[in-house]
Amino acid sequence: MKPIYNMTGVIGAGAMGRGIAQICAQAGSIVKLMDAQPGSAEKAHAALCAQWDRLVEKGRLDAGVAADHKMRLQVAGRLDDLKDCDLIIEAIVERLDVKKALFSELEALVSPHTVLASNTSSLSVTAIAAGLRHPERLAGFHFFNPVPLMKVVEVIAGLKTGTNVCDALASYARQMGHTPVQAQDTPGFIVNHAGRGYGTEALRIVSEGVADFATLDRILRDQAGFKLGPFELMDLTGLDVSHPVMESIYQQYYGEARYRPSAITAQRLAGGLLGRKTGEGFYRYADGIAQIPAEPALPEVAEMPPVWVSPRASRRAELLQLLKNLEAKIETGQSPSPQALTLVAPLGFDITTVAVVERLDPARTVGIDMLIDDAATKRRVLATNPATRTDMRDAAHALFARDGKAVSVIRDSGGFVTQRVVATIVNIASDICQQGICSPKDLETAVTLGLGYPMGPLAMGDRYGPTNVLEVLFNMQTVYGDPRYRPSPWLRRRGAIGRSLTHEES
Ligand code: NAI
Repeated sequence: MKPIYNMTGVIGAGAMGRGIAQICAQAGSIVKLMDAQPGSAEKAHAALCAQWDRLVEKGRLDAGVAADHKMRLQVAGRLDDLKDCDLIIEAIVERLDVKKALFSELEALVSPHTVLASNTSSLSVTAIAAGLRHPERLAGFHFFNPVPLMKVVEVIAGLKTGTNVCDALASYARQMGHTPVQAQDTPGFIVNHAGRGYGTEALRIVSEGVADFATLDRILRDQAGFKLGPFELMDLTGLDVSHPVMESIYQQYYGEARYRPSAITAQRLAGGLLGRKTGEGFYRYADGIAQIPAEPALPEVAEMPPVWVSPRASRRAELLQLLKNLEAKIETGQSPSPQALTLVAPLGFDITTVAVVERLDPARTVGIDMLIDDAATKRRVLATNPATRTDMRDAAHALFARDGKAVSVIRDSGGFVTQRVVATIVNIASDICQQGICSPKDLETAVTLGLGYPMGPLAMGDRYGPTNVLEVLFNMQTVYGDPRYRPSPWLRRRGAIGRSLTHEES
């Protein structure tokens, strides 16, 4: 198939430019790779050719095809060598002044039809194009690292970008085997914006002393199905990358509470605890392997107290069935007997508030997260309040572990860990839709491919129930009085009428 762009220039032969040059050459374009640093483009060229050779040796690439790729990939010594390109993709240093100067220089060389694209991850595409004679020809073309493996690319329209330019870039992305998603020019575009909920809310939970890093990671992996816990993920990315992204998006949105970064990562960054790359982050690494603290031991309980379940518990019928399966002595009276372990299962409220409002004895009250149906999760999460007696906490822990399922016990929090993190992710995603930054469909694709979440954030909201997610946020706002939990209108309206979050208004 003939590529949309016959000749593509790639400027910047670093981590990103190299990967972009590779997939452009594989898509059939002649690629001219240029770098300001003498020898860099040659080095990238040699590395890519060696990579194709290795694939041929392993029998995973036809020798003729590899020879064609190699023939198409060329090194350009000067900008002038790119003047015949139909498309030029820039992947140089992330500085507005340098990128603007480069595009101005290019505009004077290339034909009026040449498309200009920037791989910027955090600068405004509109600002990069400002000052060009033809700003309509410039778009954002944001790939992810490593480019050949991360199969999604954001095509970003600046305020003046022509629709035809974005459409052609999207078609080209498909020819490269990537999935394009189209975004408006807003801070963080789609993926870096949608990704703000996971880490920031987890950090906030830790900062309240609700649980430690390792417990949070376990809960979010086992209960919500994330491949990596937020702290494992930050260790992998490195705080030198993730903390500045958190700060940048927060600042670009003029201090919007939803994106507020954490003092925890600022301090760790300053202290050099960056993650895997420095051998210590939230975890310590020995020979590249995370040293994960052991889970607290299962308590021994000689005599199990009877259990009483609040009539206002969420998923109460399921909780009672679960207790039956665990062979608990269930009390059915209007109120708990003086011996009873008292279970509550709130959405968004803390256990203390529930005990007070329902006039329960806080010393015997323990909460369980019933946002998710029990059968669908690999871990149960219980929460105490400041008055909960140790024997009651241990009894609840031992009881819910009777069938061998993992149990975590956390301290009181407005919303359990999964409730807080899921509600925050869904709320930010809803706001992306509300602002019209992209279509709900592209949002789901971008997050699944770009962040590796178990499902798109809107599907996540539908999975847990838009009304439940809304309830978690409303109640958390009451508990914390913090505008970061203010529901986006997109979620508020759909949650209020029980409508799917992917539903677009006609
Ligand atoms: P890098 O530092 O690995 O490579 C940048 C290359 O550009 C260097 O080889 C440098 O010599 C060259 N360069 C700098 N100024 C130049 C100029 N004026 N003309 C020609 N060459 C120049 O950087 P990396 O990571 O490849 O990032 C490049 C761009 O891609 C940045 O805008 C970055 O924000 C963006 N990006 C980076 C991602 C990542 O994970 N590394 C992900 C997505 C986007």
